[in-house]
Amino acid sequence: MRRIVSRWWLAPRHARTLATIAMTAFAGASVHAQKYPEFPGANLKHGRSVWLGTCEACHANDVAGAPLVTHKAAWAPRLAKGREALYKSALGGLTGPKGTQMPPRGGNDRLSDADVKAAVDYMTAIVSK
Ligand code: HEC
Repeated sequence: MRRIVSRWWLAPRHARTLATIAMTAFAGASVHAQKYPEFPGANLKHGRSVWLGTCEACHANDVAGAPLVTHKAAWAPRLAKGREALYKSALGGLTGPKGTQMPPRGGNDRLSDADVKAAVDYMTAIVSK
């Protein structure tokens, strides 16, 4: 009896977790991508595709303590540092005061400096919108 009761409590929680995993895994990239604005210009178009491929994982999901693109207040003090400082953090990585870590190049070594900078440009364009 006890077992059944505890399963009763666990089941909905598991269902929710599984649903989240399934949504993340099966949401087609194109469906997902529609949520994010497009900006004119080759640099921001390229930046958007780099961002969707590498940066979105953390910066659009509350998983690693990354400042979310939807959170303007979290970006204000970062934008105030200036673009060069943001490029530097994105290229070389950054550990915040609470131990949250931005890995160098978002953990994707295949990205060139120009790719990473374009992704920073795209992300700052969204948060400045
Ligand atoms: C594994 C998760 C993760 C990925 C992937 C990731 N970031 Fe981050 N990013 C973070 C975290 C965490 C922080 C905040 C670090 C801190 O505490 O200051 C951050 C902060 C930043 C900042 C602000 C830096 C500053 O100086 O304040 C920029 C810019 C940035 N990321 C750009 C990017 C770009 C561009 C990509 C993709 C190429 C990317 N990030 C991918 C986790 C990630």
